[in-house]
Amino acid sequence: MQGRDFLSIADLSASEIDHVLTTAMGLKDARPQPLLAGKTLALVFEKPSLRTRVSFHVAIKHLGGDCIYLSPPEVGLGERETPADVARVLSRYVDCIAARTFKTETVEELARWADVPVINALSDGEHPCQALADLLTVREKKGRLAGASLAFIGDGNNVANSLALAAGITGMHLRVASPSGYELSDDVLRRAQALAASSGGSVRQLHEPEEAVAGADVVYTDVWASMGNEREATVRREDFAGYTVDPGMMAYASPNAIFMHDLPAHRGEEVTDEVMDGPQSAVFDQAENRLHAQKALLTLLLGSEE
Ligand code: CP
Ligand code: NVA
Repeated sequence: MQGRDFLSIADLSASEIDHVLTTAMGLKDARPQPLLAGKTLALVFEKPSLRTRVSFHVAIKHLGGDCIYLSPPEVGLGERETPADVARVLSRYVDCIAARTFKTETVEELARWADVPVINALSDGEHPCQALADLLTVREKKGRLAGASLAFIGDGNNVANSLALAAGITGMHLRVASPSGYELSDDVLRRAQALAASSGGSVRQLHEPEEAVAGADVVYTDVWASMGNEREATVRREDFAGYTVDPGMMAYASPNAIFMHDLPAHRGEEVTDEVMDGPQSAVFDQAENRLHAQKALLTLLLGSEE
């Protein structure tokens, strides 16, 4: 994987995902090691962040490297300077760029022009780093990926897209329940189903949350209005009525089911406090796994050994 970009979870094969997760578990149990001494990571963000920014910063520091954060007004991607010029300049200073952009085309444009690996740290299309942490969490909590059943309740957004592709690659069974007009895109659904056909998994788009949750090992949700959709929040609160993950909804899942959320959560909207803070909630372990998964990713993209 050395020198490659990571723009979509589908950039990795099943065996590469397995390698990232196994590396992450090893690093999680190990003391910090200077595997990336002398390497610098640039974080180029067009949107706010807590988990992604801090976990990337701490990850490269634990590995002996350095990090520089460039906030939206500092970079002015496409306004102060074109993504192509930003990519070519940063490539002269740093060893890796992790970019959080509105349009997926912007992070793809950075990757096209950069001489160093570019990581998608969330775009409107995908959140592949989140997917790696999600897979690590399911593997830890459920002991397997292939055959595990997941329900995603809510918006067919960036997090859902990466989860659908990840399920297809790793052989999980994913049922997504969304209101009309908020389903996974046809393109993502078709690609996820094509991947699932080879892995023995399945990916289905439904509209009834209870049907998706029935018997599931994992119940997953995300905000109804993502960053960039804030002006639609009021309309979306109406459109997503009935899609809140509450104890009644969790009761349809397997008795051993876990609850997952990429965070930040809008408590009282897509999930209630009882579920977020209840015994089935894995959300903070999941957030912690961002650190371990990204350490593994950075090691494999930037390190000298696989
Ligand atoms: N889950 C996630 O990416 O969180 P941030 O937006 O805080 O980085
Ligand atoms: N779907 C959310 C994820 C945040 C981590 C958003 O894009 O805002």
